[in-house]
Amino acid sequence: MTRERVERAAREFTTVFHDLKEQTFATTTWLGVPLVKTPADILVFQQIIAETRPELIVETGAYVGGSALLFASIQELLGIDGRVIAVDIDLSFVNDRVREHPRIELIEGSSTDPSIVSRIRSAARGKRVMVDLDADHRAHHVLEELRTYSSLVSPNCYLVVEDSFFGGRPVRPDAVPGPSEALDAWFAEEPPFESDRWRERYLLTQNPRGYMRRIPDDGEPPPGPQRPENFLTGAFELTGADGDDAAPPAKVDPETIGAELEAAAGEPDREVEALRKTVGNLARGNRQANVTADLDRRRTEITTDNLLREIDTQRELLLERNRQLELERAKVRRIESSLPYRLYGRIRKLPGISALVARRERFRDNAAQARRDQREKVRNERSERFVNHHRGQ
Ligand SMILES: C[S@@+](CC[C@H](N)C(=O)[O-])C[C@H]1O[C@@H](n2cnc3c(N)ncnc32)[C@H](O)[C@@H]1O
Repeated sequence: MTRERVERAAREFTTVFHDLKEQTFATTTWLGVPLVKTPADILVFQQIIAETRPELIVETGAYVGGSALLFASIQELLGIDGRVIAVDIDLSFVNDRVREHPRIELIEGSSTDPSIVSRIRSAARGKRVMVDLDADHRAHHVLEELRTYSSLVSPNCYLVVEDSFFGGRPVRPDAVPGPSEALDAWFAEEPPFESDRWRERYLLTQNPRGYMRRIPDDGEPPPGPQRPENFLTGAFELTGADGDDAAPPAKVDPETIGAELEAAAGEPDREVEALRKTVGNLARGNRQANVTADLDRRRTEITTDNLLREIDTQRELLLERNRQLELERAKVRRIESSLPYRLYGRIRKLPGISALVARRERFRDNAAQARRDQREKVRNERSERFVNHHRGQ
């Protein structure tokens, strides 16, 4: 089996699956409630939950609620004492069975609204957390969600970005910059996450590169299933919005463009082909430049949202520092109340001992003073030698 064959087949099947929407993802249900996931991704979510046993699953973008129900029912089947929080700007489509489910909490509003984020942050405290991002798929929103929600994910648990197959990877080449571009920008910030490509092994996925495992501080992954040596995926990230070629977009170089056009001159087919490639390259270049500029602008803009986020981050840092301080204080208190320490305090106060301690402290002070004097003397000698040298003596 060659890599090319696997990539071609995965690309073709995923595109057909997506284009036959009426008989595929638009009719998929979980326990009778619609959800927008491929059968293979449903299976993968089940495996991730079974392996990592998250106590809290946060989903942005609930829609009808089928995927919140999927997460909750798998938790239930596995006997996980957990729940699901699903956020959507519009909860009016949510199915009644989802509304009534005891494990599911629904929150109406934008996933990046600071008050909603802080509510979810409180619910996540002390829990094993998994996050699934499936709300507004525009790149700036997904990037903001990644920055906001990634810190909630527990080590070795998963952060999932859905629909990174938009933008020609391999479906909807005409899509605006979306989840895949957000992933590019976010990975450039070197977050402690890695894309777990093993989750794409069934070849049909809406989430290429989107299944991300949080790397624990010691960097050690848990022992996973044995992977075959020639493990192959669809590698959808290699194609941008404007092409079918499974290679990263070429850099736009005016000289090469000129040379290609010159070589093709007089041969209409080749000329048209060269022009088409040039236009494709330029469009891709512009598109990438626009995305980067847009993301940069949004990152640095002084907006209420950015300021509130910064305040939130600082508050988290402060809480963490206070926690560390409290731990240190507790250590000091433990030492002070220990028997040897109290005995030592009493012994020090006995008349003979206190004289001995005072003598030892005097001796230590004198030794420190002698070392300081010696350093001062060496410094003076050095500067004297320096001055004499420059006077020519
Ligand atoms: C693709 S659907 C979610 C599908 C669902 N997760 C599933 O698998 O069945 C996207 C949902 O995101 C919601 N949405 C759009 N912008 C949002 C935002 N800023 N915050 C939260 N939800 C948003 C939409 O209302 C829509 O219901």
